[in-house]
Amino acid sequence: MAEATSNSTKSMDAIVALCRRRGFIFQSSEIYGGIGGFWDYGPLGVLLKNNIRDVWWRDMVLTPPLGPDGKELDILGLDCSIISHPKVWEASGHVAGFADPMVDCKKCKARFRADQVSEATCPEKPSKRPGECGGELTEPRQFNLMFQTYHGAVFDEEHKTYLRPETAQGMFYNFKNVLDTSRVKVPFGLAQLGKGFRNEITPRNFIFRSREFEMMEVEFFVHPSEANQWYQFWRKARYDWWCKLGLAGQNLRLRDHEQDELAHYARDSGGCCDVEYAFPFSGEKGFSELEGIAYRSNFDLTQHQKTSGVGLEYFDQERNERYLPHVIEPAAGLTRGLLAVLCEAYTPDESRPSKVFMKFHPALAPVKAAVFPLVNKDGMPEIAEKLYHELRVRFVVELDVKQSIGKRYARMDEAGTPYCFTIDGQTLQDQTVTVRYRDTLQQERIAVDRVGAFLTEKIGSI
Ligand code: GAP
Repeated sequence: MAEATSNSTKSMDAIVALCRRRGFIFQSSEIYGGIGGFWDYGPLGVLLKNNIRDVWWRDMVLTPPLGPDGKELDILGLDCSIISHPKVWEASGHVAGFADPMVDCKKCKARFRADQVSEATCPEKPSKRPGECGGELTEPRQFNLMFQTYHGAVFDEEHKTYLRPETAQGMFYNFKNVLDTSRVKVPFGLAQLGKGFRNEITPRNFIFRSREFEMMEVEFFVHPSEANQWYQFWRKARYDWWCKLGLAGQNLRLRDHEQDELAHYARDSGGCCDVEYAFPFSGEKGFSELEGIAYRSNFDLTQHQKTSGVGLEYFDQERNERYLPHVIEPAAGLTRGLLAVLCEAYTPDESRPSKVFMKFHPALAPVKAAVFPLVNKDGMPEIAEKLYHELRVRFVVELDVKQSIGKRYARMDEAGTPYCFTIDGQTLQDQTVTVRYRDTLQQERIAVDRVGAFLTEKIGSI
């Protein structure tokens, strides 16, 4: 992949508009006016999101990284329920601690983060700050970010449950199940991806901070004496992974947390850092979190052991020692990663009819190739259709027979399709097609029966 370009010249509004126009991302329930913090992934968006998801799953679970000793790590996948026993969230600390201090306006009933009142605006009088509309603000109160619901027919405290705010806890409360049913030994990892729900007070910056989003998390269990070494390992491995997706150069960095930023579970162990990306958000300079890598000590297993009463200690035969393993957790946002990939790919180019193209890594591109008959006659549509059917069993391809060839290229540039094949008059003579490269606009002819092999070779893998 080419060296990353700076994001400082890119406009977030233009990226959001392209996502809407080309069917990457829609506002959830748009025909009803939308709902804050919820998004729908359209035909191109779901293909792109699934491609990122699949690369993560392959690289973490199917063919995990090589450890410091050169051997492949042991990482097993899980897919846990979104709603779990409410005690899970007591044990994890989310019931007591997953909260922001909030103030309410007694007049308009709007709620604001106490530490952001000086930047927020009154929903009734947007030119004013909260409290300046004549409404009195309450004292700060803790507002829990977990979505609540009830299981079963009785709506009382005993039946109150939560939509998971992270996928991590399923891996902790299944730690013993996995040990009892597989042959893994410490060090090993559990991996899970899926939806997380947080009732964010200020969902913002498109899909960056949503109330429903997708995460990709690994919990890597280690002997306490090796935890720091594994933390350093994962720090580098995860930064390298994002580089591999094409986020690199000046737009990506690894930042260690300051002591006062550390999450409760990392406070005593001291290891936490973020992979950050330079999203082009207006009014905000600098980098924002894409993934956190945390040394969580044995906080979670200790808590679940205490709360459930079930022993979760691991017996290490080689060391002849019983202990609660410590955990290194690389926790990434899938939907946030998708936004970074979209921002990185967005490439203004005034010389093109579309004025912009999406420069995705070919292996991530939602559509790998398009097939066009130059005109809709002289046998060209039939050849195009045959080629399209041959290709689509192996690749996501589109057949486009409408409008001028320039408009068809423009659509594919905005979709980020790396290769377009055109059937023209010469195809009828010599069975060759034109291939047009998205990034360079270069065109060349190749034999029509070589197109499949050409795509396999060019797309490659990440
Ligand atoms: N188990 C650890 C954990 O949940 P986190 O930093 O709160 O850590 C992990 O979340 C990742 O999930 C973040 O790095 C971010 O990419 C993503 N994420 C968190 N909150 C999000 C939100 N409201 N919208 C979109 N992505 C979010």
